[in-house]
Amino acid sequence: MAQGNLAPGPNEGYDLDANEETLPVLQQLRSSYGPICRVPSLTRAGDGLVLHDPEDIRRVLLTNRGNYVKGAGLERVRVLLGNGLIVSDGDLWARQRRMIQPAFQGQATRGFAPVVQQVNADLLTRWSAHADSGEPIDLTHELSSVALEIVLRALFSQDFDRMLESEGRNPFGLLTEESRRDLQFAARFRDLARFVRAIIDVRRQEARVESDWLSMLMQVRDKASGEPMPDRALLDEVMTLIVAGHETTGSTLNWTWYLLSRHPEAEAALHAAIAHAAPTEAPQDQALTTPFASTDYVEQVLQEALRLYPPVWLFSRRALQDDTLGGYHVPAGTDIFICPYLLHRDTAQWDRSEEFLPARFMPDAATGRHRFAYLPFSAGPRFCVGAGFAMAEMATHLTMVAERFRLVPVSTEPAEAEFQINLRTRHPLRMRLVSRR
Ligand code: HEM
Repeated sequence: MAQGNLAPGPNEGYDLDANEETLPVLQQLRSSYGPICRVPSLTRAGDGLVLHDPEDIRRVLLTNRGNYVKGAGLERVRVLLGNGLIVSDGDLWARQRRMIQPAFQGQATRGFAPVVQQVNADLLTRWSAHADSGEPIDLTHELSSVALEIVLRALFSQDFDRMLESEGRNPFGLLTEESRRDLQFAARFRDLARFVRAIIDVRRQEARVESDWLSMLMQVRDKASGEPMPDRALLDEVMTLIVAGHETTGSTLNWTWYLLSRHPEAEAALHAAIAHAAPTEAPQDQALTTPFASTDYVEQVLQEALRLYPPVWLFSRRALQDDTLGGYHVPAGTDIFICPYLLHRDTAQWDRSEEFLPARFMPDAATGRHRFAYLPFSAGPRFCVGAGFAMAEMATHLTMVAERFRLVPVSTEPAEAEFQINLRTRHPLRMRLVSRR
């Protein structure tokens, strides 16, 4: 391959990043230059390269993955999450992933069913009062809190209640109260690590092992060395799970209710589907997979919401060595950008791509679709470790709430999307709860 054969693109430079300015730039580049586009960088060492073709994306995430590490834009995340699983690379990432993965496998995930169901049962109790009074709820904030509580209980179990008691509040509430994700926030968030450290210390003193993620991470031994996870890594991973596990699920549920509230036919289909599902409000003996068993439609609704509004709407990789993508030369150091938001709305891949049609995820309807045309959880070895947990958690929430209430928006205006590190609604959604019983 001739070294000069670079992908087409503009002459002027631009630093692509997960922020508001980037989406219109990507849209414009896509229509001017097509499915692969090179963008000179203003400040970074290598050019940017935007990929829209699922085949090229497959090469980066899977078939030639050894050539790609985490890329541009990660500096901000590193300040927040240290060297946790989202940020790390190479041997450190591989070791940590091996140690963390078992905590997220089917059996372990199913063990958290009672936690997820109890948090949602408490939510329903609170929401009943709103349904009675007619007072709207701030849905966005409520869902962010529910997702945060689930992750904190899955991590700390009874130590979460102890922390609430001793502090008189949830110190991690900062995550739902503060929506900015700047350096000042990062410093305040990092300071919360002391609460995690205190819980770890107490468990060690008491030689206490719980059935939660923290104990799993404290107990696990590296297969090769037999060593436990170093404390620094343990803290980074816990902080990573808190952030990664709550913003994404909270935001997906927020968009899901928004979409359902504007599509009465989908809402009716959901009600019909869950009418046949097992009751979900008796927490103790049910596995998290229960709602999946008879309500494939719940999962399809969630998959379709994740297609239209993938929380991780843009992510990046960096090439270690030269490569070839789409027939073009890719020099070492190039920053690769993959945009699930645009990929999921690409008319070459999706019929009626702007419409909310959960049935497109019925098993038969999905045949022939490129595996790398749908990436809400990424793909390949760095596939979201919490994907199974997230889907089960969200399905449980949707089933339990839809069984009791309809959510009716206070405003009929379309919600505006905000493209920052995560894709969220720009303004909180306010909803009225209408009892279905
Ligand atoms: C709707 C919910 C979720 C979505 C859409 C989502 C999306 C993603 C995506 C796209 C990535 C890969 C990013 C990249 O390759 O650059 C990722 C990685 C990750 N996610 Fe999730 N996530 C969700 C829920 C969760 C939950 C519940 C947890 C844990 C409690 C979690 C923990 C992680 C971790 C630790 C990684 C890094 C994995 C690695 O690099 O090995 N996520 N997630």
